[in-house]
Amino acid sequence: MITRYNHYSMLSHNTFGIDVEAELFIEYSSVEDLQSLLSSKELLPQPFLHIGGGSNLLFVSDYKGTIFHSGIKGMEIISETEEYVMVRVGAGEVWDDFVAYCVDNEWYGAENLSLIPGEVGASAVQNIGAYGVEVKDIIERVETVAVESGKERTFANEDCSFSYRQSIFKKELKGQYIVTYVTYKLDKHTRFNLEYGNIKTELEKFDEVNLKTIRQAIIAIREVKLPDPKIEGNAGSFFMNPILPRAQFELLKQTYPDIPHYDVDEDRVKVPAAWMIDRCGWKGRLLGNAGVHDKQALVLVNKGGATGREIIALSKAVQLSVKEKFGVDIYPEVNFIGE
Ligand code: EPU
Repeated sequence: MITRYNHYSMLSHNTFGIDVEAELFIEYSSVEDLQSLLSSKELLPQPFLHIGGGSNLLFVSDYKGTIFHSGIKGMEIISETEEYVMVRVGAGEVWDDFVAYCVDNEWYGAENLSLIPGEVGASAVQNIGAYGVEVKDIIERVETVAVESGKERTFANEDCSFSYRQSIFKKELKGQYIVTYVTYKLDKHTRFNLEYGNIKTELEKFDEVNLKTIRQAIIAIREVKLPDPKIEGNAGSFFMNPILPRAQFELLKQTYPDIPHYDVDEDRVKVPAAWMIDRCGWKGRLLGNAGVHDKQALVLVNKGGATGREIIALSKAVQLSVKEKFGVDIYPEVNFIGE
């Protein structure tokens, strides 16, 4: 089924709660529908944007073109052994519904990614991650349709160039393929990831450590730190954590011996942008209707009626402070849409 809406308000399709309009908004529910849309000449000359749950977008102005949204649903076991199960999931499924489904079935691997907003298609484009796990760790393959030709193409995990918040679909092949299905490989045997931050401490509140309690613990940790977009518009982490050459990090450490960090490899170190933004004194501060969240400095929030431009003005001010104080460039994880 294909549904078209003219002059459509994007308010319920972006977690920042920015009120802009799309000239045309189209939802489709199968690969065939998507192929027929791509081949219809009326659409191709104008710009188009494909969105997921809108949890990583910042609209700056009305969208003068077509916005697509996948309504491809379904979660289907396509093969299984004693050790693992392969589940093929439609791009339009809500990510956290899939995590809940895995936990209910006692399949291991997705639980640390509980409560991440967004949809299954975007999970692969964005390589979503949290609490020591990235979705690339459980992706088997990604099915797509090519925008130019309408032909289907399947990418094995190794072909997706996954790295921190990156994939081939965001970089080299940006705008060229639309994700239709993602197949995940989940373990049937116990395999926990409990090393990150305060997961273990949070789990002490429960009698047992199992998939359900891990999911509850992760949800509790997230709910304390991250604002609920239904109450206060936001897109989760606004910036990516910068990855620095080790020499630059060692210099910073001389001035700030308590700087938190994670080794990426021998030559590179990841530093939390939240810590630097916090140290610049931004936590809880406002600029117009945009603010830095008072419980997690990496999150910018819409304090009510903010425009995309107000959020960008705040983000630029934050970037400048971090550059001045630490000499480090930080870049948005959120995609800006519009001029
Ligand atoms: N910190 C501060 N001040 C703050 C917040 C954090 O000093 O206001 C310090 C913390 O003490 C800690 C460090 O910064 O030492 C890292 O903080 P946290 O564990 O909260 O994680 P993060 O690096 O800020 C990343 C992801 C989150 C993910 C968490 C947990 C990115 C861009 N963000 O945040 O993902 O939930 O780790 O794994 O990598 C998202 O992408 O939208 C997102 C929420």
